Amino acid sequence: MTITRRKFLEAATATAVAGLVQPVLAQAASPDKVLTAQTGQIEIRAGQKKLDIPVWGYGGASPGETLNVEQGGTVSLSLKNELPEDTTIHWHGIRTPNNMDGVPGLTQKAVATGGAFQYRFACDDAGTYWYHPHANSAEQIGRGLCGPLIVQEQRPLAVDRELVWVVADWQVTQDGQVSHAYSNMHDNSHAGRFGNLITVNGQRRPLIDVQPGERIRLRLINAAAARILSLDIPGVSGWWIALDGQPIEPRGLRGDPVYVPPGGRADVVLDIPTGMDPGKILEIADATYRKQRNTLASFKLSGKQVRGTPLAAPQKLADNPISLPNLDGAELKEITFEGGAMGGLRSALLDGEKLPIRQLAQRGALWSTNGKIWSSLDEIAQQDKLFNLDTGKSYVFRLQNRTAFPHPIHMHGHTFQVIAVNGKKKSTPEWRDTVLVFPDEQVDIAFVADNPGDWLIHCHVLGHVTAGMIAAVRVG
Ligand code: C2O
Ligand code: CU
Repeated sequence: MTITRRKFLEAATATAVAGLVQPVLAQAASPDKVLTAQTGQIEIRAGQKKLDIPVWGYGGASPGETLNVEQGGTVSLSLKNELPEDTTIHWHGIRTPNNMDGVPGLTQKAVATGGAFQYRFACDDAGTYWYHPHANSAEQIGRGLCGPLIVQEQRPLAVDRELVWVVADWQVTQDGQVSHAYSNMHDNSHAGRFGNLITVNGQRRPLIDVQPGERIRLRLINAAAARILSLDIPGVSGWWIALDGQPIEPRGLRGDPVYVPPGGRADVVLDIPTGMDPGKILEIADATYRKQRNTLASFKLSGKQVRGTPLAAPQKLADNPISLPNLDGAELKEITFEGGAMGGLRSALLDGEKLPIRQLAQRGALWSTNGKIWSSLDEIAQQDKLFNLDTGKSYVFRLQNRTAFPHPIHMHGHTFQVIAVNGKKKSTPEWRDTVLVFPDEQVDIAFVADNPGDWLIHCHVLGHVTAGMIAAVRVG
């Protein structure tokens, strides 16, 4: 199932020498494996202190193992649940058949403690994806349950090394314990739950040895409950090459900031500089929030120089085989998000019953989607969907954020193009599965409804999901 980057590089070099570029053939179905959701522990060094953090993880680890598959290959594994409560796995960003989407109540029965479920689906799209539960998500993902799913391109980019970083955001209390309170009214009604300890692959500010002149492909996965990430890497030149797994025209790191919201991913090519002293530290920081620069990790220059002259800027990767929406024939659907603190929502339909804000708040229902809120995934499954869409037809969803907070809106089963922001058309629309919509912003996304079934569309701020910012559409 695993093909190392080095093998790809060797293949790439070999074909370059031969003057031929041949696609690496997709592997046959990967051997069956078992992923066990279970309790575990990770040790985090924070300054002088060592924190033992109890986690829920796949294989007891947080993040869980990186699943590697070649484009066109199949993921086939059995989820075993050894947690004290129901769980599932959702394959974020993968256009799976509906019954593999991992939404309990909507696409499958929840996997009870001691139970198992067999997942099997093809990965048509190359890129950086991730997997996580879709049951009690704020707590289960908050406790560490998630892992990377990497679908390697058939013609991969030549780099010296590939790094996969899962960023998590823990809340550590005064006495050095991790808080396992994943939901409270204040956070759920504001920007969500921010932590005070950011980790990369379960480590605080890891120090990674890199060689001068090395070219690195960094795959960044934002598994935080609420924190938006952007990258600031002084002294290193680099390019954003893919967002949510989907190739983009390479964009310099120093240009306009690129935000990677909760649920989102970014692929970045980094060229480690030459001519610096060995031992020099290069910081990779998140600079999304003013006055709150957070070091994610650091590179330490060591070892011999890989090359003297930097490589040329990376080329755009090949597009994934996603149907292009027909914008002329597309049907426009508006989705308006309201609610939250300072939002002015007066009332909404909760499971079909009109309730004033006070009663909604008592039931923890704080965010509405087109004036409606569903209290649970079971209600979403039973009640009318937000929209019924025709299979094969193109749609434009106009996402309107009438709240005081940014929301990363994620859609299941489909990858969409962001075609306009505030009515301004994008000249080169980019693909996403999770799009950040800022307060008072209007974002138009377009897609072909080509995957039949019931699909969630929801905010990926986990506390907002808890507070009702989640709906479903039916295709077919
Ligand atoms: Cu990360 Cu409903 O998804
Ligand atoms: Cu939200």
